[in-house]
Amino acid sequence: MKMLIGYLGLSVLLMCVATSAYDRPVNDAANVTLQNLQTAFNGESNAHARYLAFAEKADQEGYFQIAALFRAAAKAEQIHANNHEAEIKKLGDTAKANVENSVVKSTKENLEAAIKGETYERDAMYPDFYKQARSVAIPGAVQTFNYASSAEAEHAKLFTAALNNMATMRTKGATYYVCTVCGYTTTNLDFAKCHVCYSPKDKYAAVS
Ligand code: FE2
Ligand code: FE2
Ligand code: FE2
Repeated sequence: MKMLIGYLGLSVLLMCVATSAYDRPVNDAANVTLQNLQTAFNGESNAHARYLAFAEKADQEGYFQIAALFRAAAKAEQIHANNHEAEIKKLGDTAKANVENSVVKSTKENLEAAIKGETYERDAMYPDFYKQARSVAIPGAVQTFNYASSAEAEHAKLFTAALNNMATMRTKGATYYVCTVCGYTTTNLDFAKCHVCYSPKDKYAAVS
């Protein structure tokens, strides 16, 4: 009888261990990284859609250069989303985003909203995610958070400059350049390698 109880106890224990291992393919710390990647993927997917809508509004209002900037930033956010998605896959999950309808106001207000979003990502969200990914030594996540953070810092600068110089942003044919590896966005290509990911200049795509 004692042996039977011992055997049953052992079976239940083994079942619990098996269930727990199945439910949690990555450990708790890596799970936090995974959730952060999902949050970032969702944010980037929404920013991509929002900036395309803002670009349309800027075109309607005759701010053609600001429209080009929004399209360039939208491309960068898509690159960030793709990079995050690749890391989510490596951790055994599928990237999920809930892309909401974009709230589009005047171009001035849209720029203000964009600056707020970029500043939050630059100063709070990505630094926290980067630090956590480093603490659990997941290099792919560290890299994709670093790439995005650096690009958002530049987006914040470009949007702020646009907001401060709206009257001069009606020129047609303005071109921005976006690194297709890290999403860094710039107005000129006066360098040999990307400042952020060190890819050669030919990895930059022109957006107008
Ligand atoms: Fe981004
Ligand atoms: Fe951005
Ligand atoms: Fe780059």
